[in-house]
Amino acid sequence: MNKVNITIDGLEVAADAGSTILAAARRVGIKIPTLCFLKDVNDGGNCRICLVEVKNRPHLVASCVTLVEEGMEIITRNQRVREARKTNLELILSTHEQNCLACARNGNCELQTLAKEMRVDELAYEGERFHHPIDRTSSAIIRDPNKCILCRRCIEMCGTIQ
Ligand code: FES
Repeated sequence: MNKVNITIDGLEVAADAGSTILAAARRVGIKIPTLCFLKDVNDGGNCRICLVEVKNRPHLVASCVTLVEEGMEIITRNQRVREARKTNLELILSTHEQNCLACARNGNCELQTLAKEMRVDELAYEGERFHHPIDRTSSAIIRDPNKCILCRRCIEMCGTIQ
């Protein structure tokens, strides 16, 4: 496989050409937080939690959908990146039902874990709350659209895998 030379947080990496920044970082043990990404299922770049900085690019990029390029200098940890990720998480949470203790996924929830890791304790924004009926039409799953964060994992899973 062809390689491209990049740096991630100052570490020189020979990444597989055609791979994403996220995949290249994971291969060398650098953790970038993700939420909507699900390997081989969903790479829609919907949540923007995996933002990183690329030198000489004006905007932060979603690492799960941005391909590595020769000479890329990537920064996964600085204040700008951390603040942008945290803001995006706060915006996602702003429309999310805030009743974790009564949720079946309490303690086993990626969203909750991320909120803890990013120290999102209080809601910075108050988004619009919806009160949709719970969908119990499937014999296999119960879907509560009030907890949906629009990651699209379920759509991809049903559409391309199932
Ligand atoms: Fe990359 Fe959601 S994990 S945009």
